Amino acid sequence: MAKMSCTRNFLLLYSITFFISTNIKGYVTADEDRKVYIVYMGSLPQGEYSPSSHHLNILKQVIGDSSASNRLVRSYARSFNGFAATLTSKEVQELSGRKEVVSVFQSRKFKLQTTRSWDFIGLHESVKRVPSVESDVIVGLIDTGIWPESESFSDKGFGPPPKKWKGACLGGKNFKCNKKLIGARYYNKTDKTGARDVDGHGTHTASTAAGGFVRGANFYGLGKGNARGGVPSARIAAYKVCSPDGCEGHYILAAFDDAIADGIDILSVSLGISFGIGPYDDAVAIGSFHAMKQGVLTVQAAGNDGPFPLTVSSIVPWLLSVAASTTDRRIIDRFTLGNGETLIGSSINSFELNNTMFPLVSGRDALKHAELCDVDSAMNCESQCLDERLVKGKIVVCNSPYQLIKIGETHGFGSIFISDSVEYNVPQVLSLPATIIDTQLGNKLISYINSTKMPRVSIRKSEEIKDLTAPVVASFSSRGPNAYIPDILKPDITAPGVNILAAYSPLGPVSDDKNDKRSVNFIFESGTSMACPHVAGSAAYVKSFHPNWSPSAIQSALMTTAWRMNATKHTDREFAYGAGHVNPVRAVDPGLVYEAFEADYLNFLCTVGFTLDQIKTISGDKNVSCKKTVKGSFGKELNYPTITARVKEKTPLNISFPRTVTNVGHANSTYRVKVFNDRIINVNVVPDTLSFKSVGEKKSFVVNVAGRGLPENYTVWGSLEWSDGIHRVRSPVTLHTPVTF
Ligand SMILES: *[C@@H]1O[C@H](CO)[C@@H](O)[C@H](O)[C@H]1NC(C)=O
Ligand SMILES: *[C@@H]1O[C@H](CO)[C@@H](O)[C@H](O)[C@H]1NC(C)=O
Ligand SMILES: *[C@@H]1O[C@H](CO)[C@@H](O)[C@H](O)[C@H]1NC(C)=O
Ligand SMILES: *[C@@H]1O[C@H](CO)[C@@H](O)[C@H](O)[C@H]1NC(C)=O
Ligand SMILES: *[C@@H]1O[C@H](CO)[C@@H](O)[C@H](O)[C@H]1NC(C)=O
Ligand SMILES: *[C@@H]1O[C@H](CO)[C@@H](O)[C@H](O)[C@H]1NC(C)=O
Ligand SMILES: *[C@@H]1O[C@H](CO)[C@@H](O)[C@H](O)[C@H]1NC(C)=O
Repeated sequence: MAKMSCTRNFLLLYSITFFISTNIKGYVTADEDRKVYIVYMGSLPQGEYSPSSHHLNILKQVIGDSSASNRLVRSYARSFNGFAATLTSKEVQELSGRKEVVSVFQSRKFKLQTTRSWDFIGLHESVKRVPSVESDVIVGLIDTGIWPESESFSDKGFGPPPKKWKGACLGGKNFKCNKKLIGARYYNKTDKTGARDVDGHGTHTASTAAGGFVRGANFYGLGKGNARGGVPSARIAAYKVCSPDGCEGHYILAAFDDAIADGIDILSVSLGISFGIGPYDDAVAIGSFHAMKQGVLTVQAAGNDGPFPLTVSSIVPWLLSVAASTTDRRIIDRFTLGNGETLIGSSINSFELNNTMFPLVSGRDALKHAELCDVDSAMNCESQCLDERLVKGKIVVCNSPYQLIKIGETHGFGSIFISDSVEYNVPQVLSLPATIIDTQLGNKLISYINSTKMPRVSIRKSEEIKDLTAPVVASFSSRGPNAYIPDILKPDITAPGVNILAAYSPLGPVSDDKNDKRSVNFIFESGTSMACPHVAGSAAYVKSFHPNWSPSAIQSALMTTAWRMNATKHTDREFAYGAGHVNPVRAVDPGLVYEAFEADYLNFLCTVGFTLDQIKTISGDKNVSCKKTVKGSFGKELNYPTITARVKEKTPLNISFPRTVTNVGHANSTYRVKVFNDRIINVNVVPDTLSFKSVGEKKSFVVNVAGRGLPENYTVWGSLEWSDGIHRVRSPVTLHTPVTF
């Protein structure tokens, strides 16, 4: 942990300069090994242009004629301009000096980060829908592919694909699309499985966002109910970019290039990089910029590196970043000791023991090789330290949940793990009858073992209970503040991401244990990966009512109508859940929206350190200029639905945040503002009343924040809300001084 904190602190203090200088220098290695780099060249030029021959020409100039075509990995030419090539650091330096190049960065590996959940967020089966429009909405997923035969993707009752669809079904051998799953592509041409999902992740996220109805879906009887996505009538297109060892950055960009040109409406991207990277080097940040240009909203998982501050890895304002929270369905395991006492542990345990009692032994009591192993290693159940004769057929108590596989290998029957690790505070599917408890219960269990000659236990199959504390942000969910763009609050919103039941690939692993040979069509998973398609599905739902809304209007509608979360911890609040918990039904009628378009985002890029030449190339418009902004405004002027600033500690502050709202509610309406703030600052909105005469009308206001200065390592949590008596348009207002560790 200490190491990470240190790195984070560095990023925070030097955020802006850091991502500029890493652009090239960060990747100069001592050896001259070639690696795959992405050469990003912004928007496609207007008029006649042959991208691939231009790319090859550039390469030839840098590395010579003969080998250029071997070094070109891929050209991006459908939705934006650029290419991937294997390059040495010297070649990278030469390329990045060229005028037509915005940035050159190493292609890095990204990692992968429902029956009940849609009801929980208020999108009931009976909710109002516009099926004819919904069936024209296309949701794209950039993920591990898809299992086309899953019942969730049945096309029963579907008409032909919408006319705007320009994609293709190129999923490889034995891969058939249908009228529900209308497109598939994959990018690793040596992957013989094509776009078929052999992992399960992509099938899970696709079915959560837009899967059809499946009656009686369950995981070994658990979570039984009707599974469905947010928009069951919408179409799906799957773009496979991941292999078992990760999701290559240059494949991700290729998927954006295709998906945008194919005509998808909403993109769901449950991928990210821990220890985020600046916007220059982030394939998702770049791809989603061009998606936004074409009217496509990208939704991305915030990351699974919580609960520590500054861990959110989805950072740019033109995409929606999603945290993960609980639903009111909790999964627990009861287990009964030989003395009749019943305790509660956590895991997703599908094994039915019929109340049979099994002998119980602690790792410590099964120690062998006392000369090699100490008591702690035995208690951690390291396999060479366990005496097989003493664990065979028994339930073994261990301190380290990583050792479950070893229990199986030493012929133990099951296990109870004692761990306070945050990784295990959400239940996981395990390969043996097993459960996880915290150290407090662990001590109780050990005393019981100590108290009897024949300790025994029976673990019951998991059961569902109602969790009245929900929604609470999961501890694994990455937190703000935003380390790279501190004046943009991230994550933006939270959605269900714990114990989500959704479709799965029958070839996907059921647990982490390679010896676990079970195969299922539905499974429980947790992660911001699972929260992301809930928001993508909600965005598609909003789009089915408002097909012409801009990506930022949909984003704003989802954010300003989000349920207020109850803070359980006062230290992270909006840095954990952003604007709040997604509420798709209310988002259809937000009243007012905060909109931003390409020009606004370009101006924002001016304020965060991009040069004018880079901005011209990104936009493809040579006439573009940087609007005069307050020096160091770093995004405070962007018309974003949340209001955030990082300020210097103990320094008087006086910041203005200009904002403009567009009326999408009633033509004749008057909104008044209410401000909720910490006494330490003074928030003043001018004007405090906005009157509209027509739909589409825009009105501007300024939020002025003043105060005598904030203490070190301090955050002010406030909000403002515009209301016409019917709509409530809420924006969090957060001001923070740099986080210290
Ligand atoms: C491409 O797929 C092959 C075969 O599955 C795999 O070994 C390789 O690691 C993948 N390459 C990348 C860059 O993902
Ligand atoms: C529990 O009962 C079920 C159904 O009779 C059986 O399949 C299963 O093997 C039993 N489990 C154990 C551990 O005896
Ligand atoms: C259980 O017994 C072991 C020694 O056999 C002892 O070290 C340990 O403290 C005891 N634990 C409890 C909770 O009673
Ligand atoms: C927050 O707590 C209040 C009061 O206990 C409750 O009425 C409200 O429903 C809670 N909100 C959420 C989102 O859980
Ligand atoms: C750029 O400005 C020139 C001169 O004002 C104009 O003729 C041209 O159409 C503009 N180009 C674009 C892409 O807007
Ligand atoms: C709005 O209100 C004005 C005055 O109250 C009225 O004249 C006008 O017809 C109203 N317009 C609409 C669209 O309701
Ligand atoms: C700063 O605040 C964070 C979040 O509230 C906290 O975790 C951390 O310990 C604080 N640092 C110091 C030095 O107090």
